[in-house]
Amino acid sequence: MSQIDEIKRALDIVQVVSETVDLDTRSRTPKANCPFHAERTPSFVVFPESGTWRCFGACAVGGDVISFIQKRDDLDFRGALQAAAQRAGIELDSRAREKQESLSPLISANEIALGYFWTQLRASSGEDARAYLEGRGIDTDMARRRDLGLAPNGMDTLAGHLKNTGTAGSAAAGAGLVVQTSDGGWRDMFKGRLTIAIRDIEGRVVGFGGRSLDGSEPKYLNTARTEIFDKSRLLYGLHWAANAIRSSRQAIVVEGYMDVITAQEAGFENVVASMGTAITAEQVGLLTGMADTVVLALDSDAAGQEATLNSLETVWGAFAGRGETGAGRRTGSVEIKIARLDSGKDPDEVIRNSPNEWQEAIDGAAPLLEWLIAAYTRRFDPDSPEGKSQITEALFPLIAAVGNPYEQDRYLTTLAETLSVSIEQLRASASQLRATHRRAVRRPAGLQAAPDMPDTVPDYATETAIEERLLGLVFAHEDLREYATDLDDGVFEDATNRSLFTAWKASTALDELRSAISPDLEQRLDQISGKSLPPADQPTRVADVSECVRRLLERHLRLLKSQEERVLKELGADDEPDDARSLIEDSALETNERLRQLFAGQR
Ligand code: UTP
Ligand code: MN
Repeated sequence: MSQIDEIKRALDIVQVVSETVDLDTRSRTPKANCPFHAERTPSFVVFPESGTWRCFGACAVGGDVISFIQKRDDLDFRGALQAAAQRAGIELDSRAREKQESLSPLISANEIALGYFWTQLRASSGEDARAYLEGRGIDTDMARRRDLGLAPNGMDTLAGHLKNTGTAGSAAAGAGLVVQTSDGGWRDMFKGRLTIAIRDIEGRVVGFGGRSLDGSEPKYLNTARTEIFDKSRLLYGLHWAANAIRSSRQAIVVEGYMDVITAQEAGFENVVASMGTAITAEQVGLLTGMADTVVLALDSDAAGQEATLNSLETVWGAFAGRGETGAGRRTGSVEIKIARLDSGKDPDEVIRNSPNEWQEAIDGAAPLLEWLIAAYTRRFDPDSPEGKSQITEALFPLIAAVGNPYEQDRYLTTLAETLSVSIEQLRASASQLRATHRRAVRRPAGLQAAPDMPDTVPDYATETAIEERLLGLVFAHEDLREYATDLDDGVFEDATNRSLFTAWKASTALDELRSAISPDLEQRLDQISGKSLPPADQPTRVADVSECVRRLLERHLRLLKSQEERVLKELGADDEPDDARSLIEDSALETNERLRQLFAGQR
């Protein structure tokens, strides 16, 4: 978690706003007259769960707690951050870069551990582990190449070795390699396990997986979450796979460490692992700039699980349903496909048995939405009226989110055929379902005409990828400035990205920008500029940046829309329409109109 997130989390937005604004906190979305413009009907709303605020009236701006302080006290980003940090009782790093540097001892500790584990595997005490690997077709060269090792189980300990090499206890513990015992000593995290080093995309060792060799549970023990290790934001093997993914524009995601190792060794180099958990949107986000297609290879027991379905829906919502243009060109988005492996085998076994079978499974992967349609049809009964509405309820919002109208039609047809109903019936029952969901909500007539979309608020965390993609493009190519400079800062959700964008708009060149910004922003700038972009010609870059602009705008409008719906819902169905209500309704109508125009422009 960045320090900025930490500060935001520590502050209660309602409390901060209440200091200077007379908030009516009776409803779950507290309201007030907007402090930033003169008005008599409260159009200023705070959303406590997301920690954000918005003025639906004349200013039409919104943001998080930091941007609120920034606007209230007329500060620059750094100033507001400082004020917020002070309020939260968090000491702001004097130079953000120190933070980065403070992480390198953790990496070093991991590197030392990797060397140590390797020595242990080579030692005579590593005989059983080597035999185990041999039995799985992994010889010494391969083990070395794939960063395998052995965590000792006897008198020798990693804790002792770390100490001997002068590693600070804080670094060893911070990296999750050792834990402190109640008597103050250090105990190894991994004991008697085969170790698998996990590197980030840049190849830095950030954590380990440890496989049990004697059948004890759990089968794998992994580094706990640390400052440098967050399983849900890493893909195992990405540093090996990155080049192959970029050149083939395709990434294959499997579940296990061993699956990746076998795939890599067999020459399937674009394979990475989600490390057991159902794939997260963050993980897919790592691949978006590199690949056009992401194939998820699911083994058959995972395929039917609730968790898998849920995560795939999230992934769909974050990536697959957007970003396709009517012209058929895709930019900044990925097509997600599902390859299903039969007969309960995992990729490791399939590849060892028959590389051809593996290749066929990948080539025959089905588009995610098609696969979801089939999965829900298996889960519920498409022949019973109840099953039909369960399936419709689950799938209609996903189909409604498909950007490309032709593709949307195709899915609607598939779903209608699956349920043996007409498309008209399908639409009718979908809107009926929605109506029952929102019993309490009365909508002005104009609202119905808007493009249909799911009720969820776009996930802010996953979508900072688009913000950073846009920034990366304009930082790298001065000639793209004209395509992004009209974009409103308010469409950026991440406070750091937003400030960086504002500063970029005010600057004329990257050097000038760099010298004008505070260390926090500079760190983000370095991070973004450090990511390499795939080579592209000028027209492609223009298309890319325009697509980012469009998607940010779309996301912004969807967010706005969901907030307006929230507020309208809260205003209650029984009161007579009052000023506040018509104000939000006006705003909602305008948002719909803007969305419609955005979609119209896209065809
Ligand atoms: P698998 O059980 O399929 O493991 O779990 P695997 O990689 O095929 O290992 P082998 O072939 O049995 O040795 C898939 C992934 O789920 C995570 C690991 O990342 C594993 O590679 N996992 C599994 C855990 O983190 N903990 C566990 O206890 C099990
Ligand atoms: Mn396996």
